Amino acid sequence: ELAPIDKAKFVAAKQASEFVESGMKVGLGTGSTAEWLVQCLGEMVREEGLKFKGVPTSKRTALLAKKVGIDVITLDEAKWLDLTIDGTDEFDADLTLIKGGGGAHLREKIVATASDRMIVIADATKKVDTLGAFPLPVEVIPFGLPVTQGLIGEMLTSMDVLGRDVVQRMQGDQPYVTDEGNFILDLHLKRIGNPRQLSLMINQIPGVVENGLFIDVCDVVIVGYGDGRVATRD
Ligand code: A5P
Repeated sequence: ELAPIDKAKFVAAKQASEFVESGMKVGLGTGSTAEWLVQCLGEMVREEGLKFKGVPTSKRTALLAKKVGIDVITLDEAKWLDLTIDGTDEFDADLTLIKGGGGAHLREKIVATASDRMIVIADATKKVDTLGAFPLPVEVIPFGLPVTQGLIGEMLTSMDVLGRDVVQRMQGDQPYVTDEGNFILDLHLKRIGNPRQLSLMINQIPGVVENGLFIDVCDVVIVGYGDGRVATRD
């Protein structure tokens, strides 16, 4: 018997898996919810003869996808995708997302943007009125890190946000390193008044590769609840 939070993630993933059809090329997200999806799809490949190609958004997802029997290809081989299914850290009523809690938002954003459709799977705790309680991840190149960090902090003083702490993500006592060999800065903003403006301003700073705001990318969110109910928002 699954704990309610896992049940919520599972039922959302299960419902999303039904959108995958034979012949499709599908982006596979990263995180604990996306892992449920990969497990479901693996079962459909092994037991129902589903034939599709998966493009993983991280090394972690690639490993799991291969393990469960999914035919894995690169985005370059796929060129374009029918669908991407991924988790999220937050979503609002406009289906704007904060992603990157798992450190994979750069590849996730590239893959989702190269897809006809993005379906997000989430437990109900991910729904927010205003984005920003979850720290916003920003991937930056290692060169000049303190300069980049300082410029982000300075830029935030003129933004509609409540918090302004910019914290480098660590793994133990070492900097966290992404699949692309970069670092992550987590922006503790508490409340993001204008996600569109903020996203543009962050990505304009030299040294920044990509921030975790997904704007006009997600088409539908499938929300799972601990009692097994599922709701769709689009
Ligand atoms: C990975 O970088 C993130 O974008 C994940 O999609 C996000 O952290 C969701 O993870 P969970 O499904 O584990 O909450």
